[in-house]
Amino acid sequence: MQELLQNIKTRFERDFFALLRKSSLKAAPTRLKEATLYSLSGKNKRFRPILALEAARLAGLEEIRALKIAAAFECLHSYSLVHDDLPAMDDDSMRRGQPSCHIQYGEATAILVGDLLQSCAFEFLAMADVEPRAILYFARAVGAQGMVSGQFLDIEAQTSNTLRLHRMKTGRLIEAAVQLPYLVSEQKLRLSVLRWGRTLGLLFQITDDLLDASQDSVTLGKTAGKDLAQNKKTVVALFGVERAQEKARAMATKLSREAKSLFASSELFRYLPQYLIERSA
Ligand code: IPE
Ligand code: IPE
Ligand code: MG
Ligand code: MG
Ligand code: MG
Repeated sequence: MQELLQNIKTRFERDFFALLRKSSLKAAPTRLKEATLYSLSGKNKRFRPILALEAARLAGLEEIRALKIAAAFECLHSYSLVHDDLPAMDDDSMRRGQPSCHIQYGEATAILVGDLLQSCAFEFLAMADVEPRAILYFARAVGAQGMVSGQFLDIEAQTSNTLRLHRMKTGRLIEAAVQLPYLVSEQKLRLSVLRWGRTLGLLFQITDDLLDASQDSVTLGKTAGKDLAQNKKTVVALFGVERAQEKARAMATKLSREAKSLFASSELFRYLPQYLIERSA
């Protein structure tokens, strides 16, 4: 399974960068283009594109459309990381094992890289020829009903509900990576798939919180121990490490079991919840 995951990632990266070279990104000023490609590189998992590619395979989408949809998710996600690291937000100097975009290229450029990556995401979705309602669904998952509002609640520490915050800032985009290919191919929203993806997204952020509390910065490729230092509303702050780990294990077991019936022909979807709780970065 590890090997399968690595193969999907390697192939995606090759096709993704080829696609980027053909996109409107080539019109960007050299340094902006360089900073954008830099932010898409480094040590990373490509978790959202892997989800989108597998869901697209299960939903029977053509490979070229699947790639463009997967690319949209990686661009959108990478934009969120560039902005998340800015001094006004989490103020992190390290990302994906290298200096954060604003450290390497300056704050103004990093803001624009995020803006550009967001526009690339919508460009790729449109290039995948998805219908307007799929774009609407994506926009809602990333905007006021999802990631951006979640990020706002995170920086303002305004909410007392950590799990809701996690569902919004991370869960919705991961949910969308699983759901959108189905939406594109079948024209209808599958609630069971949607719920599975959303819970997987919540599990993703729970394990991210656990890693922040337990790993070192070199392994993570980003600064460890930041959540505690910045008094973030994490599941570790809410439940403590042990109970958070127990919850993560229980969620992973349930998700794997559900994947057997929801995605009968996908060994990968059965395996991913386990991968999330065992990962070291
Ligand atoms: C980090 O995402 C931000 C969160 C939503 C927790 P990833 O852990 O997927 O980061 P990369 O893409 O692998 O670098
Ligand atoms: C960020 O969550 C979620 C996003 C939408 C970017 P974190 O702030 O915990 O992500 P890391 O730990 O910096 O990667
Ligand atoms: Mg953050
Ligand atoms: Mg952060
Ligand atoms: Mg984190």
